[in-house]
Amino acid sequence: MSKKLVLSALLMLSAAPAIADDLSKYQEESRAIIGPFAQQLMAENKKAIKEGGPDSAIKVCKDIAPKMAGDLSRQHGIKLTRVSLKVRNPLLGTADEWEQKTLKQFEERIAKGEKPETLEAAEIVSEPAGKYFRYMKGIVLQSGCTACHGTADVIDATVKARLTAEYPHDQATGYIAGQVRGGVSIKRAL
Ligand code: HEC
Repeated sequence: MSKKLVLSALLMLSAAPAIADDLSKYQEESRAIIGPFAQQLMAENKKAIKEGGPDSAIKVCKDIAPKMAGDLSRQHGIKLTRVSLKVRNPLLGTADEWEQKTLKQFEERIAKGEKPETLEAAEIVSEPAGKYFRYMKGIVLQSGCTACHGTADVIDATVKARLTAEYPHDQATGYIAGQVRGGVSIKRAL
C-alpha cells in the first residue's frame, strides 16, 4: 500500500468512533438476525426427530447450524457463532474471552432471578486490532434438545454410541430443559 493510501485509510478510521457509539442500532440488528436463526434451528430439530428419530437430528447441530451461521456471517459482514462453556465440538463451539465472561455473567444473572429466555448482552470493545461490537443471546435448552444434550438416562444407546465415537471429549450433556446451553454470539468489526 502506498503512503497516500495508508493515510486515507487512517483518516477513514478516525470516523469510527461515531459508528461505535451506535450500540443500540447493532443490538437491534443482532436480534433481528438471531431470532429467525434460533427459530429455524428449533424447527429443523423437531422435524428431524419426528421424521427420523434423534440419530437423524444430529445433522441439525452438526451441518445445518454451522452452515446457516456461515451464510448469515457472510451476508451481514459479521461473525456469527454458537458457543458454550461446555462444548461438544471445541473447534466450533469454544467461547473466546468475551464470550466466556458473558456466559458466566448469564449464569449469575439467572441465579439472581433473570429469565434464561431474556438473557442478552451487547458491548463495544477495543482490541489491539480495533473496535468491535459484541453481542450474545442465551440459547435455552428445549425438551427437544435433551435427546443429545440431556442427562445420561434420556440419551438413547445409538445416539450415545455415535456421540462418544465422534466427540471423545464431549462436555455438552447433563442439561435439563430450561437451562442455558450457551449463546449465539455476534462479532462485528467497527
Ligand atoms: C440429535 C442430537 C442433537 C440434538 C437433538 C441437539 N443437538 Fe446440539 N449438538 C449435537 C452435536 C452432534 C453437536 C456438535 C456439532 C458439531 O460437530 O459441530 C451439537 C452442538 C451444539 C451446539 C454448539 C456448541 C457445542 O457444544 O459444540 C449448541 C449450542 C447446541 N448443540 C445446542 C442445541 C440445542 C439448543 C438443541 C435443541 C434445539 C440441540 N442442540 C439439539 C447434537 C444434537
